[in-house]
Amino acid sequence: MKNLGLHEIRKEFLSFFEKKGHYVLPSFSLIPKNDKSLLLIGAGMAPMKKFFTGEATPPAKRVTTCQKCLRTGDIENVGKTDRHATFFEMLGNFSFGDYFKKEAIPWAWEFLTVNLEIPKEDLWVTVYFEDDEAYNIWKDEIGVPEEKIIRLGKEDNFWELEVGPSGPCTEIYVDRGLEYGSEDERPGGEGDRFIEVWNLVFTQFDKDEKGVYNPLAHPNIDTGMGLERISTVLQHANNIFEIDAIKEILEEIKNMSGYKYGLDKKLDESARVITDHIRAITFLVGDTVRPSNEGRGYVLRRLIRRAARHGRLLGLKKAFLYELCDLIIDSWGVEYKELIENREKIKDVIKGEEDKFLTTIESGMNILSGLIEKLEADNKKVLGGEDVFKLYDTYGFPPDLTREILWEKGLEIDQKGFEEKMDEQRERARNARDDSNIGWDSHADESVFEGYTNEFLGYDHNSCQGEITGIFKNYKEVESAEPGEKVMVLLDKTPFYGEGGGQVGDTGYIIGSDFKLRVFDTKKTREGLHLHLVEVLEGCLQKEKVGAEIDVERRNNIRRNHSVTHLLHKALKETLGSHVNQAGSLVEADRMRFDFTHYEAISKEDLKKIEARVNEKIFEDLPVVTTITNPQKAGEMGAIGLFEEKYGDLVRVLSMGDYSMELCGGTHVSNTAQISMFKILSESGVSSGVRRIESITGLAVYKYLLKADSLRDDLSRELKVNKSDILQKTKANIEEIKKLHKEIDKLEHDSAKDEVSKVLENIKTKGDINYVSYKFIDKDVNTLRDMADEIRSKISKIVILFAGIIDGKINFVCALSKDLVKNPYEAGKIIKDIAKIAGGSGGGRPDMATAGGKILEKVDDALNSLSDFI
Ligand code: SER
Repeated sequence: MKNLGLHEIRKEFLSFFEKKGHYVLPSFSLIPKNDKSLLLIGAGMAPMKKFFTGEATPPAKRVTTCQKCLRTGDIENVGKTDRHATFFEMLGNFSFGDYFKKEAIPWAWEFLTVNLEIPKEDLWVTVYFEDDEAYNIWKDEIGVPEEKIIRLGKEDNFWELEVGPSGPCTEIYVDRGLEYGSEDERPGGEGDRFIEVWNLVFTQFDKDEKGVYNPLAHPNIDTGMGLERISTVLQHANNIFEIDAIKEILEEIKNMSGYKYGLDKKLDESARVITDHIRAITFLVGDTVRPSNEGRGYVLRRLIRRAARHGRLLGLKKAFLYELCDLIIDSWGVEYKELIENREKIKDVIKGEEDKFLTTIESGMNILSGLIEKLEADNKKVLGGEDVFKLYDTYGFPPDLTREILWEKGLEIDQKGFEEKMDEQRERARNARDDSNIGWDSHADESVFEGYTNEFLGYDHNSCQGEITGIFKNYKEVESAEPGEKVMVLLDKTPFYGEGGGQVGDTGYIIGSDFKLRVFDTKKTREGLHLHLVEVLEGCLQKEKVGAEIDVERRNNIRRNHSVTHLLHKALKETLGSHVNQAGSLVEADRMRFDFTHYEAISKEDLKKIEARVNEKIFEDLPVVTTITNPQKAGEMGAIGLFEEKYGDLVRVLSMGDYSMELCGGTHVSNTAQISMFKILSESGVSSGVRRIESITGLAVYKYLLKADSLRDDLSRELKVNKSDILQKTKANIEEIKKLHKEIDKLEHDSAKDEVSKVLENIKTKGDINYVSYKFIDKDVNTLRDMADEIRSKISKIVILFAGIIDGKINFVCALSKDLVKNPYEAGKIIKDIAKIAGGSGGGRPDMATAGGKILEKVDDALNSLSDFI
């Protein structure tokens, strides 16, 4: 048996089936698309139901995937057993009316025995009891001994969901040997000796809601091999928590909490619960699910709070779940790019939810413990609905969490009573809702829009006739709205582009028989519906046929700014290298912002080259052509873009001449000349390895030119030269100013020198003491100090007194050479007395002091009085 890691097995599987002519589709989102029968994707085939039934065309007749799956049906067993998990990955190969049993069975055998090197002797199979065809292929073509082919009934070997494609199946088991079970154990039984690794379903029926099996037009193949299951086998792991990549999560939890695994069964269980749940949580948030009280949001909330509670049991006090995310994102990011792209968002959402829960968990747990004690004391088994509701409403305990905690004690909750309390609360919330707020929220629970569809005509039309099919206020359906109210509206057909792919939403008007709506923004729901945010201007909004028209001028500017991102993307790749990739954008009417991967600032020359190249392509008048095709063809054509977001569907490939080809859902000009002109305004760094260019097009460039021109006019007037001479004149002015500054410096230096020599000439002596007093005009106190410093450095045993008159005030400075200090002179004392004469005061150090003065006429008297001190 080959010892391969989890990520290696996935790779090996996909490339095996790719070589057998399969198209490798990236995993679909965990959120089912247009399928009301499922809350979350729980099987590899689930997102492809419509390909089996023929309602949709698959991108290829042979497809292989590794599908992220989530099942919460057995959540209570997670951590307790070796096998139960919520999140798992399902490897599968699919045939939509192409190959059938004769190919599917040998390929599965080949992959297991050749690629994974599982010994043939260890493999057993089961078949549907009536399926002789499968039986014979195993026996005659593969050569499996008859005693190792077991016929089983519908319970074991017929695969189906509640509704949808289904059929008989054959399963492959690995015999783990007698150390795991007895001699007479057989596949399909209870024990641990045989582990089922692969299920090959021969999809022949479409089961409807009534349970009727309708035959499909052609037979199909749907196989599923749990990636964790096969990893356990290859890695000789005893349970899923010993699988290489998963074990790393468990290790990290051990490090964080510092507890020792394997000593306490309860604590081990907590660590396993967290190890399992954190993958589910990270993937759910990565697929845009947000914690809420309904549907998928509730599943997420329950998983986060359940994991958080087990973290507390391990002694973790602070929010810790978000800290595990990086490990998962770095590891599983090899396959699931959406994790890497949403890294910060994922951590934010999880931290937010855990923090919220942690603020109340302590008090909630105390209350719950109290309630349990009381139940036990009263010999009762059921916790009342009101208590369950209070724990939920006030302390954030999802009812399922409360139920689980009670189960551990053999108690139950009153589910019906709880639901009654919930209904009452919903009613209260409905009544208290604020009418003025439109309440759009990209994370909101959008189940209210389920079942609606719409057609977007805005690629080719600026206006159209349509019908209002839904009116919503705060995510609740309403029948009408009055003038002044802001609501959300769905149309069956619309020209309004909903914000997406970096492009802002359209604005405009919707007009009914007697009402008028202003569309102030258009958003896209997570399912892709164009949702109009409107204000009722006049009349009473009703569901009826309407005319809808976007603000065309605004949209044309948006078109220019969007199309130019494609030209820029290509020009950046050409100039800087193929490592450049779009990392986000914002396309508005008056400008656009384009983020891309690049490791350093772009040089001026390169930036000019890029700008020139884009303009060249604008002037070449290149036709902009949209081709609608499947992702596979798009890839073959050489289109660049985010393929993983569009899987399964048809994609729009936008080409501009033969210069650029990208996947894009945005709205565009029909030839590049309509962009008119492109001007880069700035280039800057956003984060490490990501740069940003901001730019304008069309009329905005013209306005930019006008502004530049008027600035030149102003300059030419101020500088009194022709516009063409502004630069020369400015350079000359700068040179002139430099020269003048030099001259000023020299003059100042000379004058200071002069002053010092004048002072020196005035030195008098008494005994062996030198002294000098001197008056300056327009010199500040610092200059006086500097001059005093220079003089006392030249002359010893000197007392200096300066007065400076500046701005009608007097500054005195007194300085002593060091050899005089306290002998018996002190500058501070001298200046105090002298300043008094001119109506001032001051002080300072013994060798240097300053003072102010007010009476200008007394300055000379003050200066003259120095000799009295000597
Ligand atoms: N649908 C089958 C399963 O989930 C095979 O892919 O087991």
